[in-house]
Amino acid sequence: MEDNVIIRLKDVCKKFNNTYAVENFNLYVNKGEFVTFLGPSGCGKTTTLRMIAGFELPTSGSITLNGQDITLISPHMRPVNTVFQRYALFQHLDVYDNIAFGLRLKKIKDEKTGKMRKLTSKEIDEKVLNALKIVDLEEYEDRDVTTLSGGQQQRVAIARAIVNEPEILLLDEPLGALDLKMRKDMQLELKQMHKKLGITFIYVTHDQEEALTMSDIIVVMKDGQIQQIGTPTDIYNEPKNAFVADFIGESNIYNATYRGDKTVRFLNHNFACVDDQFAVNEKVDVVVRPEDVILGEVGKGMVDGKIVTKVFKGIHYQYVFMVGKNEVVIQDTRDFPVDSNASISIEPDMIHIMKKELNANVYQDAYIDNKNRVVIANTPFECDVTQVLPNSHLDDDGYLIGPKGKKYDLNDADVVASINLTDVEICENEEDGMVPGVIVSVIYKGDHYQVTVRTEDEEDFVVETEYTYNETDRVSINIAKEKISLSIKGDISKYEI
Ligand SMILES: Nc1ncnc2c1ncn2[C@@H]1O[C@H](COP(=O)(O)OP(=O)(O)OP(=O)(O)O)[C@@H](O)[C@H]1O
Ligand SMILES: [Mg+2]
Repeated sequence: MEDNVIIRLKDVCKKFNNTYAVENFNLYVNKGEFVTFLGPSGCGKTTTLRMIAGFELPTSGSITLNGQDITLISPHMRPVNTVFQRYALFQHLDVYDNIAFGLRLKKIKDEKTGKMRKLTSKEIDEKVLNALKIVDLEEYEDRDVTTLSGGQQQRVAIARAIVNEPEILLLDEPLGALDLKMRKDMQLELKQMHKKLGITFIYVTHDQEEALTMSDIIVVMKDGQIQQIGTPTDIYNEPKNAFVADFIGESNIYNATYRGDKTVRFLNHNFACVDDQFAVNEKVDVVVRPEDVILGEVGKGMVDGKIVTKVFKGIHYQYVFMVGKNEVVIQDTRDFPVDSNASISIEPDMIHIMKKELNANVYQDAYIDNKNRVVIANTPFECDVTQVLPNSHLDDDGYLIGPKGKKYDLNDADVVASINLTDVEICENEEDGMVPGVIVSVIYKGDHYQVTVRTEDEEDFVVETEYTYNETDRVSINIAKEKISLSIKGDISKYEI
């Protein structure tokens, strides 16, 4: 199938100022596909697109086009064109001249003489009119671009990109500046243009609905890394982790335990499931889509609880159902009274089980400073260093004394520090905690939130909390001395004095 691959990114990394904007990106795109990069702001979508276009060089890794390495080839030598979010049209030119601009500079090989020559005005005319036809702007060639609507201007920008007959069209949030209605119309039109042109589209968006409706393949990204590659149905029905599930549509996500024998426990109930690739008693994440929960009369289903809210959404009702302190969001076309006891059932194949991403915060690059504190995210935290050696204690000078009286100087000792997700405390005021940071993700897990706080030097603290926070909130974090677990890296004997 290799023949069908148009572009391949292999182990592509891009670092800016020592932090990765894109990390170990591996992807191949087949000819004629509509591929979408989807992910939150700052996850590296534009950077990846710019590397494909040649505006940015990878720090490492390679990019091949039709089997040829183009990693270092300059942008204008690549059969690739880009449409940007802010369509940079020439305001002093009319529609025709905007589209013809690039063609007038271009040189082609004359078929008869074999020499390079400019395009004739007849050739340019044909190409421009054809491009206008594809973007549905026939008869607009004499219009001043300033008199066009946003959607029409964006179409001119697309015409300008496709008039060069690229093999790949890159589109970076091309509909971002349009209002919702126009956006929806243009989504359908872009899809039709893709069909008509038959070329490969690589599209960037942070809008999951847009990605689901338009793409053949979606690449979900987070923090410069690919989380999942798949068709819209794959990604929706079989999200690989809690991030993807949460990002793609509404879901119920729970902490659960795999009990073995195709049984998983959450909502205080043992549910039959179809997955069996987990260890007995392994902690897992479970995802259930709201439309896959079946409401029923109390006592007749698998788990009883209470309907606490109900909203009519046009085709279905959306209910919030409480099982103890756990919330279950349900979509059902049938009408049940609010504030009533009811039951829910979930079919085995509607329970999606995922490997747990994280059980604790683990810092591999921590070290001990000269005051026996552990340094994580450039911040010294009070800790109990005696845990690195059983039955040890500190002497008056701060040296560690082993059980047999050996003396160790732990200053600069490399350690692995770990802190449970429930043991990190978030302070609402930046000044109150040890390290300031920004909330970069909030995932609801039925009865609590999993919140990620990122510090200035890109260290993450993941916190499980019952309180809710907003993404982009500035907060700070604290960790109690006794909550930090330490283990020494390598052998402790190298710190003996
Ligand atoms: N030229 C640059 N110099 C330094 N850092 C950069 C540069 N370009 C991008 N970055 C950083 O790389 C990361 C990824 O940025 P990128 O623009 O690719 O994200 P994005 O997914 O396109 O986000 P958005 O949805 O907001 O457009 C960000 O942290 C960004 O600040
Ligand atoms: Mg971007």
